[in-house]
Amino acid sequence: MSRFGETLVRWYQENKRDLPWRDTEDPYKIWISEIILQQTRVAQGYDYYCRFIERFPDVFALAEADEDEVMKYWQGLGYYSRARNLHEAARSIAARGTFPDTYEEVRKLKGVGDYTAAAICSFAYDMPCAVVDGNVYRVLSRWMGIEEPIDTVQGKKLFTALADELLERSVPALYNQAIMDFGAIQCVPSSPSCLFCPLSDSCVALQKGLVDMLPVKRHKTKVANRYFIYFYVRAGAYTFLHKREAGDIWHGLYELPLIEAERETAEEEVCGLPAYRRLFEGCEVRGFRLVAGRVKHVLSHRVIYADCYEVEIAGGDAPQGAFRRVPAADLHKFAVSRLVSRFFSLILKPNINNKE
Ligand code: ADE
Repeated sequence: MSRFGETLVRWYQENKRDLPWRDTEDPYKIWISEIILQQTRVAQGYDYYCRFIERFPDVFALAEADEDEVMKYWQGLGYYSRARNLHEAARSIAARGTFPDTYEEVRKLKGVGDYTAAAICSFAYDMPCAVVDGNVYRVLSRWMGIEEPIDTVQGKKLFTALADELLERSVPALYNQAIMDFGAIQCVPSSPSCLFCPLSDSCVALQKGLVDMLPVKRHKTKVANRYFIYFYVRAGAYTFLHKREAGDIWHGLYELPLIEAERETAEEEVCGLPAYRRLFEGCEVRGFRLVAGRVKHVLSHRVIYADCYEVEIAGGDAPQGAFRRVPAADLHKFAVSRLVSRFFSLILKPNINNKE
């Protein structure tokens, strides 16, 4: 083994986290864990993984499940296209009968990119495929002192080639786990404790004082604001939900009837909005009250400012649009975004400020 590989593997054996997907070579379970852990911290993904595997213990159980149930198990994790892709891929694997066992076939699964394919193939089959995730970019860029941006085609090519060169081919699974955990625990993004790092004597970034500058990113993520106004519509014991469509955030999740505004809208302006009038056209509106205002919800590429109003209409009326009429008592059964779930808990809880 190289000094680098040996140091990482020794560090890993002393510091590794005990995680359920590390006790298995089942490609299905490894696949599920990797999809959950994309953009999700281990601490948060852990319980989701355990619940998901308990309910869908193999690819056939997942393939046979209803999409709404899969989404419900994913509720709160975010990036919901991951769950839809997972489900679609499970159906294609079940149809062919076995989990694919070559890198090319694994890479073809819906939602599986270079990183996930390398993770599955190395962890499940011990194939010599180097993983390149955010942790690996950080460890390599610092240890080698590379200032090439990691978010360009050229940068990605460079880091992929380096990762492949450094991979310990005698123990690919062990080495990949080691470098990823080293990045997650020791070589952390801000204020790593280089004093106690086993690679400090050979780390170029440390010698050059570049640790907090690396890795370099060329493009900063742009954040856009959106303004949502939700309506908890009460018609007797019923309310209305809508299933979000493709092409926007939260595809496949349910939500309350919603209008989107260009900017923040004051309470007294809402009923005058053309979209509000269209939504409640033909309805006899009997009550209108604010449930929660100016809730800020931060996603990776946008910040949503959301208000929620309760609108009471006559029992037989319905808002205009493709809504599902459901008993208000059943709201908790639907997969919803974390934002809508916050509104649900306010709606379903007796309001202590309501003096009526
Ligand atoms: N993040 C992504 N994949 C992981 C894994 N297999 N172990 C720990 N953290 C991870």
